[in-house]
Amino acid sequence: MAPDPLTPYGNRPMVTPIVNAVNYEYLSFEVLRQITDGEIDGYTYHRDDNPTVREVERRIAELEGAEDCIVCTTGMAACTMVYLTYLKAGDHLIIFHDTYGANYKVSLILERLGVFVTWLTTEQAARIQEHVQPNTRMIFLETPTNPLCRVLDVAAVREAADSVGALLIVDNTFATPYHQAPLSLGADLVVHSATKALGGHNDLMAGAIAGSKEHYNRLWFTRQAIGTTLDAYSAFLLDRGLKTFNLRAEAMAKGAQAVAEFLAQSPKISRLWYPGLPSHPDHAVAARQMRRGFGGMMAFDVGRDEEDAKRFIAALKTIYHAVSLGATESLICIPFLTTMLYLPPERRTSFGVRRNTVRLSLGIEPAQDLVKDLKQALACVAHEVKTAS
Ligand SMILES: Cc1ncc(COP(=O)(O)O)c(C=O)c1O
Repeated sequence: MAPDPLTPYGNRPMVTPIVNAVNYEYLSFEVLRQITDGEIDGYTYHRDDNPTVREVERRIAELEGAEDCIVCTTGMAACTMVYLTYLKAGDHLIIFHDTYGANYKVSLILERLGVFVTWLTTEQAARIQEHVQPNTRMIFLETPTNPLCRVLDVAAVREAADSVGALLIVDNTFATPYHQAPLSLGADLVVHSATKALGGHNDLMAGAIAGSKEHYNRLWFTRQAIGTTLDAYSAFLLDRGLKTFNLRAEAMAKGAQAVAEFLAQSPKISRLWYPGLPSHPDHAVAARQMRRGFGGMMAFDVGRDEEDAKRFIAALKTIYHAVSLGATESLICIPFLTTMLYLPPERRTSFGVRRNTVRLSLGIEPAQDLVKDLKQALACVAHEVKTAS
């Protein structure tokens, strides 16, 4: 019997070991056969599987209430693995404009391979049935969306998917499994940029896909074929990040609620989207679909124009001007100039994002420090856009 690489000393170390081996010695040809035939769990080559990676997969599967989970190099690798595993020439993919920008680039590749892609606005989600076709094989959505933090009704989209036997994929990066369980709402697969809140410290990149064992097996085939297996050190960091995930998610959501309530009062802020505010257009769906709070992400328009938004961001002292999200530090950016650079300029403003729209990701700093920072930065914004309430 091959020794378990996670218990090399006979009893289990408190911390998941980083197994950096590319390959593993076969103890005999019989062991090789047993591993190859799936009779015993064993490792052969890192691109196939790695014990540190496997450990973190088990943890994320548990968080998402999934039978299994497959972890890979980045969030975009996870999205791409899903597309490549389930779509073929002639299939139809429905996806939403308000989705992380790099998916647009991947959609261009998919179109080159013969996949038909339909992009819908968040408003069109309510009438998604009108856009479903007999060849619709997949509906891919984020909720809350990136960057506008709109909330899509997963159960309603599930119904549309069911009418043609399509797969429903939900990117749960913004909500996190602390606040939302897409599989229980009807998703077939949950996708994550684990680079964000699951890792949580701006120090690793990873992606994750959670679902049934059957899906795991199909996605494993793709990962092994294209070589998107995560390295063991990043898996270790992700595993370590997960130990504090619940605490961080709770703190981010609490801070976000307080910050959103403060921003809602400002005469220099318009169109504020935080799902925890009753004024959010999808608050009722969010209240039904999310739990233990509404996450750490929000978007809002600052002042009148891009210059106002830039002055505001430049004046911030505690909140960092950087992309990414879900980290211990609060991060802010202008999506038009950053995360949406993947889209042609006219497309960037075609579904509600403006040049002065900012996306704020709460960290775990005390909310009063963040409010203080936002207050002094708002004082630097030239234009008021509504009467103070
Ligand atoms: C919602 C969402 N999904 C996927 C991704 C892609 O993740 P990664 O940067 O890890 O490839 C991002 C990145 O910001 C994201 O915000």
